[in-house]
Amino acid sequence: MDEVKSLEDIFDEEHFRSKGHELVDILADYLKEAKASQIKTINYKEPKQLLSEWTSRLNEKSSFADLVQQVMDDSIHLHNPKYIGHQVAVTAPMSSLVDMLVSILNNGVGVYEMGSAGTIVEKILIDRFSKKFGFTDGGGFFTSGGTLANLTVLLAARQLKAPSNVWEGGSDQQLALLVSDQAHYCVDRAVRVMGWGDNGIIKVPVDGEYRMRTDLIPQYMEEAKSKGIHVIAIVGSAPSTSTGKYDDLNEIARYAKEYDLWFHVDGAHGGPVVYSPTFSHLMDGVDKADSLIFDTHKMMLTSALATVVLFQHAKTSYSAFQVKADYLWEKSHEAEWHNLAKRTFECTKQMFALRIFFLFQLYGESIIDEHFTKTFTLARTFADIITSNDAFDLAVYPDSNIVCFRWNNRILELDEMNKCNQYIRRQLLEDGKFYIVQTKLKGETWLRISIMNPLTTIIELKELLDLIEITAIDFKIV
Ligand SMILES: Cc1ncc(COP(=O)(O)O)c(C=O)c1O
Repeated sequence: MDEVKSLEDIFDEEHFRSKGHELVDILADYLKEAKASQIKTINYKEPKQLLSEWTSRLNEKSSFADLVQQVMDDSIHLHNPKYIGHQVAVTAPMSSLVDMLVSILNNGVGVYEMGSAGTIVEKILIDRFSKKFGFTDGGGFFTSGGTLANLTVLLAARQLKAPSNVWEGGSDQQLALLVSDQAHYCVDRAVRVMGWGDNGIIKVPVDGEYRMRTDLIPQYMEEAKSKGIHVIAIVGSAPSTSTGKYDDLNEIARYAKEYDLWFHVDGAHGGPVVYSPTFSHLMDGVDKADSLIFDTHKMMLTSALATVVLFQHAKTSYSAFQVKADYLWEKSHEAEWHNLAKRTFECTKQMFALRIFFLFQLYGESIIDEHFTKTFTLARTFADIITSNDAFDLAVYPDSNIVCFRWNNRILELDEMNKCNQYIRRQLLEDGKFYIVQTKLKGETWLRISIMNPLTTIIELKELLDLIEITAIDFKIV
């Protein structure tokens, strides 16, 4: 069908078939070009300019292929091996085909009847993950992203560890948690969403390796007590976002036990490193955690969003919410693993688990090992090159696939060097060949890469360093 004239025509299966084939052809060609770096990682335009370009085109008649192309032109291209920016998965193309299945079925797996297959897959995976992380009596669910996952877990921790039933009676007691000052901002946000305010988040400084200084925990606990603050939880980062360094989970577990704290591990990025025999030791101690979250849309090659929330004890996974919804469930108050919305923020809940399930079933779990082992090893090789090149500094030797480094000609003052590295990052953004980001560590500017693309090699990384050196020549002190 060439022209759609009615609402019914939209549902014509042949219309869908032809557009579907067209899309897959476009995307397969796109993949080929992106993988060969024949398109830039980004064609950056300022937001105002881009808004005006899109607005001026709105009344033009566009074909499906035109619209697809317009979206692709103004998007970032993760499949280009020179994309080494933020921590978003470079999706296994299969994951996008699963997305098509997910969106046609559009089952809401919050309620068993509304998505039986999706619910069962979720249960099978949760049980499998529980075993993998050493949670013998584990349970949990999938949710929409690491940010929401951390909040959900902390709500459960609050319900189980606060002196009173906060869900029913609220709380006028000042509650708090401990976390490293390098943790992802969403932990801070969760604290404030829960109404704990400034006093609710106790940020423990990091050591020279950017790991939480666990030796300071007794001091912070003492201080909190003297101020009447009731600390209920401690969060370990696995790893923290800026530097990609893993906290010492065994040490955190030891203090959590001593002070009767809920021990949560934010493994959004690097939790699934347990699949890599070479690097799984980074997660040592996770089996002692009360809860853990990890994203499959970061290091497990699936599209966003899909986050796994695991609890050491399945029954605690029902603690975040107490909901009565008679129109959804006959037994609102009963813990039913198959009615997932009882435990999640989402009411209409996507079939998140299908993406990683298909990858496991079709390609095997070993692809996740391969991905972690390859990218984490490459980050170490890159760090070695940085260390041996006098024109660069390394912030810290990497644990993961995240590396922070900077250009340094040993002549510029610190302030100028910060500006120069900001200049370099901006020039790279405008150039578009590579996509990298920057961060601040102890107030200083560092360039930052996350090797998310399994096709990135040392060749691209060496080319990046050459480009940075050439770019730095044009920096002018103002
Ligand atoms: C350690 C950590 N936790 C949480 C998040 C937030 O996850 P999401 O982007 O899935 O909400 C991130 C994101 O980078 C992260 O690195």
